[in-house]
Amino acid sequence: MVVTHNIAVTKTERSKLNDFPLENLPFGKYFTDHMLEADFENGEWKNIEIKPYQPLLLSPSLAALHYGQAIFEGIKAYKDPTGNAFIFRPYDNFKRFNVSAERMQMPTVPEEIFIEGMRRLIELDSNWIPAYENHSLYIRPFLFSSDEMIGVRPSETYKFMIILSPTGPYYAAPMRIYVEEKYTRAAPGGIGFAKAAGNYAGSMLATAEAKKQGYDQVLWTDAFEHKYVQEIGTMNVFFVIGDTVLTPDLESETILSGVTRDTALTIVKEMGLNVEERPVHIDEIINAYKSGKAVEVFGTGTAATIAMIRELKYQDFVMKFDTDKWKIAPELKRRLDAVRTGNAEDKHGWMFKI
Ligand code: COI
Repeated sequence: MVVTHNIAVTKTERSKLNDFPLENLPFGKYFTDHMLEADFENGEWKNIEIKPYQPLLLSPSLAALHYGQAIFEGIKAYKDPTGNAFIFRPYDNFKRFNVSAERMQMPTVPEEIFIEGMRRLIELDSNWIPAYENHSLYIRPFLFSSDEMIGVRPSETYKFMIILSPTGPYYAAPMRIYVEEKYTRAAPGGIGFAKAAGNYAGSMLATAEAKKQGYDQVLWTDAFEHKYVQEIGTMNVFFVIGDTVLTPDLESETILSGVTRDTALTIVKEMGLNVEERPVHIDEIINAYKSGKAVEVFGTGTAATIAMIRELKYQDFVMKFDTDKWKIAPELKRRLDAVRTGNAEDKHGWMFKI
C-alpha cells in the first residue's frame, strides 16, 4: 500500500463509553466516540480526518439526497479472549465497496483510506468492541455524492465516512419469511449486486406488507417469472437438502456477493457437504419439503450472521421447520463464531489484526 494521505486525528474531550453497558445492545442504535470523514474534490481525496462523532451540516441541494448516489458496506470487528481486536475480512468488503462505487459512477476509495483509516479508527475506539455473545462492533463505511446541485448527473464531489456501532444480534430469533412475487428487488443489468442505498429503500414496501401478515422479511424472486429465489431482506439465502447445500449463484448479478455467504460456503465444504451454487427454483424447495427430505433454510449476512428460518410461505403453501432439530446451520454458526472470537484457528486469514 502506497501511503500518500495523512490522516488527521482529533480526539473527543468526553468519551460516551461508560454511558451505557455494552451488552443486550440493539443493532445499529449506538455509535462510538469517533468517526472518519474524507472528501473527494477535483479528482482527488483530501481532508482525511478522524474526529469526534458529530452531525453533518448538509445543503438541501445535496445531490445524494435527491438521486441516491450512495453506497455502503457492513463489516464487523471482534476481540479474541486475550483482548486483541480484529476485523473480519475487511479486504473483501473493500473490494465490493469499490465494485459498488464503479456501478454507481462514483470514485473508488483507496486502500489507505478505507482499510488504514478503518484500522486507525477502530484502534482509537477499540474499547467499544463488545465481548458478549452475538455482539460485535459493526463498521459502517459509506460514500455519497455531495455536489450542491440538482441536475441529474454524476456528482463531482463526494464524502466517504466510517462510523462504528457496538451492536447485538440483528435477528434475535428464527425467522418467518414470505416468498415475494409481486415486487421485484433486482433484474439483470440493474444494481442488485451493488450495496446501493436505493436497493434498501426499494425493499421497504414489500417488507412492510410481509410484516402486516406476520412475516419478518421477504425472500425476493426473479423479475420475470417470480420463481427463482434471489436473497432475503439483508441476507443471502441457503437451503440444505439432504447433504447438499444450495444457494443461488452470482451469474445474473441480481444478488449481493456476500462476504458471509462466501465464508459459509467455505465452512460447509470443510464440513464435508456438497455445495451447489446455481439458479434455485422455488418448486425444488417445495418438492424437497413435501418429500420429507431434511431441509434447513437460513440466511447469511454481516449484520445477521447466520439466521435460521423457521417458516417459509409461498403463495398458500406454508413450510414450517423445527430449527431445534437442525444440524448444519447451528454447526456453521458455531464454527464461524469460533473463528471470529479467536476460539478456533484462522486457517483462511480472515481475521485482520488491528
Ligand atoms: C449487513 O449485513 O452488513 C448489511 O449491510 C445489512 C444492513 C442493511 C443491515
